[in-house]
Amino acid sequence: YRLLRVALLGAGAVGSQVAALLLKHADELADRAGARLQLAGIAVRSLDAPRDTELPRELFTTDAASLIASSDIVIELIGGIEPAREHILSAIGSGADVVTANKALLATHGPEIFEAADRVGASVYYEAAAAGAIPIIRPLRDSLAGDRVRRIMGIVNGTTNYILDRMDTEGAEFSDVLADAQRLGYAEADPTADVEGYDAAQKAAILASLAFHTAVPLEAVHREGITAIDKSIMDAARHAGYVVKLLAVCERLDGQDDSPTGEAISVRVYPALVPRSHPLASVHGANNAVFVEAEAAGPLMFYGAGAGGVQTASAVLGDVVSAARRHIAGGVGVGESTRANLPVVEVGRVVTRY
Ligand code: HSE
Repeated sequence: YRLLRVALLGAGAVGSQVAALLLKHADELADRAGARLQLAGIAVRSLDAPRDTELPRELFTTDAASLIASSDIVIELIGGIEPAREHILSAIGSGADVVTANKALLATHGPEIFEAADRVGASVYYEAAAAGAIPIIRPLRDSLAGDRVRRIMGIVNGTTNYILDRMDTEGAEFSDVLADAQRLGYAEADPTADVEGYDAAQKAAILASLAFHTAVPLEAVHREGITAIDKSIMDAARHAGYVVKLLAVCERLDGQDDSPTGEAISVRVYPALVPRSHPLASVHGANNAVFVEAEAAGPLMFYGAGAGGVQTASAVLGDVVSAARRHIAGGVGVGESTRANLPVVEVGRVVTRY
């Protein structure tokens, strides 16, 4: 097989699992990709940071720039805006394909990155940027490209679903369960991103952009977190036959006067009352689910692990195999279509009908 050099940026919960699986399944991955995926190095901020991993020490480097410049595929798992953005742009500039799980970056600088990739015919893969292990990016971008998505209702943050589920089923207190979610590795480095809905809003912007072929800026996403939800609200919801879930709702709205076609979209994240009979009510623990309603396909439900290192690593590795296949086939870039250009309107807290 031809050899492809793979650079890994970041060795956190997901990155260390990606590296371990790349090494462990090297032969199998080579067969699937049609190329040997050589882990060329792992760029980290400091070589002295304590690491709970058995990865070979010689793979670690603090020189991300040199590693990127000599690689065919760059996996960015640092998170945050900088230096992740700069690294991704230089990877694209040097002719590499990029795999990233960086929802914060894609939700804010997605158009800049996709345009840079389109200009040179590179690809950016990001299946792990929304809903962890669940395949949802490709289904929205590819499988449903011939359909019209009317609405997405998703539980796209594992930490808050874990917290709300334990409050609902055990009567647990918010602060106790948040500490458990952090210990289990579901929460972001700063859990405010989870509990205040920022993480879900980023994922909602990404999913809505794909579903409606429209650039959805993060600022256009209505966002409320779960910090105001307490035991009394959970109890009242239960008695009325509902469960509280942090939902990301992305939907087409008709009859909008300020839109040339009368059509617009709304994207919102808020704690919603979900009827116990709805499939989204049965999503427990740190699992995620994305309920998609498409005009021809009808309702579709995507369900599985929404957070966790090894689970998310599965989605990253799938992208690495896709990048390798494309790289050796010399294919053209897979840009994102935002040509529908629908206006995104702020409708605030509206009642979602299930
Ligand atoms: N903190 C995120 C979550 C991790 O809880 O869903 C996965 O993006």
